[in-house]
Amino acid sequence: MRRTAIALAASAAAVSLAACGAFDGSSGGSGSATPKKGDDIQVGLLLPEKENPRYDNFDYPIIQKQVQSLTHGKGKVVYANAEADAAKQSQQLDQMIQDKVDVLLVDAVDSKAIAPDVQKAKDAGIPVIAYDRLAQGPIDAYISFDNELVGQVQGRALVEKLNDSTGSSKIVMMNGSPTDPNAAQFKEGALSELSGKVNIVAKYDTKDWKPENAKANMLEAIKAVGANNIAGVYSANDGMAGAVIEALKESGVTKLPPVTGQDASLDAVQRIVTGEQYMSVYKSYPQEATNAAEMAVAKVQGRSIEFDALTRDSVDSPTEKKIPSMLVPVVALTQKNIKDTVVQDNIFTIQQICTAAYRTACAEIRLK
Ligand code: BGC
Repeated sequence: MRRTAIALAASAAAVSLAACGAFDGSSGGSGSATPKKGDDIQVGLLLPEKENPRYDNFDYPIIQKQVQSLTHGKGKVVYANAEADAAKQSQQLDQMIQDKVDVLLVDAVDSKAIAPDVQKAKDAGIPVIAYDRLAQGPIDAYISFDNELVGQVQGRALVEKLNDSTGSSKIVMMNGSPTDPNAAQFKEGALSELSGKVNIVAKYDTKDWKPENAKANMLEAIKAVGANNIAGVYSANDGMAGAVIEALKESGVTKLPPVTGQDASLDAVQRIVTGEQYMSVYKSYPQEATNAAEMAVAKVQGRSIEFDALTRDSVDSPTEKKIPSMLVPVVALTQKNIKDTVVQDNIFTIQQICTAAYRTACAEIRLK
């Protein structure tokens, strides 16, 4: 509840900031800051993969809508998805440089491998904003969630659910892709809560975040530990949580152990309703995507006061120090707060969650 309150307060702050930005923008025309460009701008958007529905269903459409609304319908978003292929993303970025987009929002498949392309964009005079994952190289700004907090929220939820004072509960840890710096932060945050309180008997870094890889790893863990000896699974996101649950069921587990996740994807919310998945982490896509669009447009239009107001945090990457940033807070999502989070933020309607197959389970937790 406390975290919901924090998220909601932050959401209100973001709205007033946006309102203030809009005000700055309209008064800026009379000469406060010299706009570099007008409304006719192109924002290049590079997203990393398609297996997780967030990118195509939320990040892209929200950014597109916000760019349009900030530019009186004249600005465009050029979107490319790398489908978890770092070489493909490098080509996509180079193409956008050739096409002379005005600014780039980059969610890197491989944060290190993308650095030379970020440098090329800089040499071509195109600002780069790292989106969600901290790309290396000379970026102008970064926007993401508080990723260490994501891991802490997951780890804490699992420990509380297990309620084991001996610390002997056997846990499998399914982490994300080693090329994604977020995965390392989720892991670090989670370990700060799990260490000493549970017994981590198997852990994996999951190539490309792919559910099929997570499933293979989980089957291996089940073989080594024994299907009914696993007290809980830390899964870094919902896609992998779904695969972990499949592996457990296929191995004959009828009473599923608590499994964590992240992203509040629709199938995960439905699994939370039935109790198959214990929790997810709700990260407000509207807050991240809307503010990213604001940053990109403010940067291109030379509205530095608004840009600075949007990037009051500061982070370091392995190649840059003091990157102007915005880190958006997150909240644990369990059966108790589905309505106060994803439904309230219009991510999903109750009808979308409580389809025929979930109607009884929804009624049981009074989700209506
Ligand atoms: C994102 C997560 C997502 C994962 C896989 C991370 O960088 O922050 O929301 O589940 O990538 O795409």
